[in-house]
Amino acid sequence: MALVSLINIVKSFGEGGKVLRVLDGITLDIGEEFIAILGPSGCGKSTLLRIIAGVEKADSGEIKTVGNLVYGFVFQSPTLLPWLTVVDNVALPLIAKGVDKKVAREKALKYLSLVGLNGFEDFYPQELSGGMRQRVNIARALVVEPTILLMDEPFSQLDPLTAEALRAEILDIWLSGVTTVKSIVMVTHNVEEAVLMADRIVILTPRPAKITKIIEVKLPRPRDRRSKSFQDVVDQVYEYVS
Ligand SMILES: Nc1ncnc2c1ncn2[C@@H]1O[C@H](COP(=O)(O)OP(=O)(O)OP(=O)(O)O)[C@@H](O)[C@H]1O
Ligand SMILES: [Mg+2]
Repeated sequence: MALVSLINIVKSFGEGGKVLRVLDGITLDIGEEFIAILGPSGCGKSTLLRIIAGVEKADSGEIKTVGNLVYGFVFQSPTLLPWLTVVDNVALPLIAKGVDKKVAREKALKYLSLVGLNGFEDFYPQELSGGMRQRVNIARALVVEPTILLMDEPFSQLDPLTAEALRAEILDIWLSGVTTVKSIVMVTHNVEEAVLMADRIVILTPRPAKITKIIEVKLPRPRDRRSKSFQDVVDQVYEYVS
C-alpha cells in the first residue's frame, strides 16, 4: 500500500523568458520500501525530494498521503550549525517544534547512540570526521521520528570504506525496525549503491525529469556486490542511465 502517491508532479523555476522546467510529470507510489532515485546531475532529484517533504511546492499535480506523515531529511549539503554541539544540533528540529528542552535532549541522545556516536554529544561538528558528521545528520533526521526518511546523496562525500559501513548501518537500522521509519527515499548518482540498498530504482531522464524506468531489485539482503546476480542488475540499470 502506498504511503505517498505522487501524481503527475510538474515543477519549473524562474519566470518570463527564463523559465526552467525541472520536473515533467512525475507519477510514483511510495510504499513501505527503499526507493533509490537515480538521475543525471541537475535533472531535478533534490527538487523532487523537497516536494515530497512538502518544503517546496509543485506547480501542478497532486500528492496524496496516508494520514499525517512525518518526514526526516538528510540534506545534500552540510547543514550542521558549527556553534551548536552535536546533541544540540540533533535536538534542534524538536526544539523548533516546541518540544521541551529536556525531552528533546533525551531523544537526541537516543538517536546519537543509535548511529554509534555515544560519548560525542558535547563535541562540535568541526571536531568530528566527515563520516561522524554524516552520522549526526542522520540522527537529526531520525529524531523527529519520521515515517519516511529522505536522503539526498548521503554517502557521496565520504571515503569508500566509511560510505560502505554507513550504508550497511542504515540498512540494519531500517530492516531491524528499531525506528519509526517505514520508507526510505534516497537520491544517488551511484548505480552500485542503488542496487546494494534499494527495493526499487527510479531512473530519471535529464532535465526536465521524467521517469524513464523503474527497476525492481529482488536480490535477498545482505547483497553481495561480487555476485553474478548483483552485476546483472547493475548492467540492467546502466542500460537506462544516460
Ligand atoms: N530554488 C531554485 N531556484 C531556481 N532554480 C532552481 C532552484 N532549485 C533548483 N533549481 C534548478 O533546478 C534544476 C534542478 O536542480 P536540483 O537541485 O533538483 O538537481 P539535482 O538533480 O539534485 O542535481 P545534483 O545531482 O547536481 O544534485 C537545476 O537546474 C537548478 O538550477
Ligand atoms: Mg541534488
